[in-house]
Amino acid sequence: MIQLQNITKSFGTLQVLKGIDLQIGKGEVVSIVGPSGAGKTTLLQIMGTLDTPDTGSVFLDGIDVTRLKDKELARFRNQRLGFVFQFHQLLPEFTALENVCIPALIAGTSTKQATEHAKELLDYLNLSERANHKPAELSGGEKQRIAVARALINNPAIILADEPSGSLDSKNKEELHQLFFDLRDKFGQTFVIVTHDEALSQITDRTIHIKDGMIENVIGANEADEVNKAEDVDDNTAPSA
Ligand SMILES: Nc1ncnc2c1ncn2[C@@H]1O[C@H](COP(=O)(O)OP(=O)(O)OP(=O)(O)O)[C@@H](O)[C@H]1O
Ligand SMILES: [Mg+2]
Repeated sequence: MIQLQNITKSFGTLQVLKGIDLQIGKGEVVSIVGPSGAGKTTLLQIMGTLDTPDTGSVFLDGIDVTRLKDKELARFRNQRLGFVFQFHQLLPEFTALENVCIPALIAGTSTKQATEHAKELLDYLNLSERANHKPAELSGGEKQRIAVARALINNPAIILADEPSGSLDSKNKEELHQLFFDLRDKFGQTFVIVTHDEALSQITDRTIHIKDGMIENVIGANEADEVNKAEDVDDNTAPSA
């Protein structure tokens, strides 16, 4: 589902990624851990096509995204990838429901269909009651679950999360982590989660330790063999928008 080959990246004279090779299979929940400044966010941004590597290739869902033109890339990102950040990044002037709808509307889904699907997701995440509230009126855990619903609305194959539970208390943290696994079980999505949370990294299928721009070690089953088998099969079973 995700294949990175020899990814390097420098900012000025600082080489942040020094040759990363990584394969992640469909339906895997993988955590990326490592000290501050190790290059985790940079790697996730490159995986999410939000940044480009200096060398190397990035295959997502069978497509070499480093070869896509701007427009195709924006479309790919909107339809195949979902993002969850440490601070929810919801738009303050819109309600929870509207925030969830936005990526679907960008994808060209009708307002009616987008709203229906967003309501289903909010229902699934136990947020129906909060649908018409704006972010300022929601708790941290609720905001983060809304951000997850927003990431899911276009049924992306891959969800990338950068310290998604970093701003949550322990109860909300646990609920959010459980949600990732529930979603994987239900919709078969692939999750890559950068985290400093040990409880989370211990329960993910694999933990990639990054240090000083390199993969230091990988803990857990290597399902890379499954990647090639699953690559051509698109059986994303999430309800469609
Ligand atoms: N746009 C940029 N321009 C210059 N330097 C950058 C840029 N983005 C990141 N860096 C530097 O690259 C290094 C890796 O940053 P990155 O954000 O990937 O680390 P990280 O592993 O996510 O750390 P943290 O755990 O603190 O979030 C850091 O030294 C950072 O200062
Ligand atoms: Mg970071």
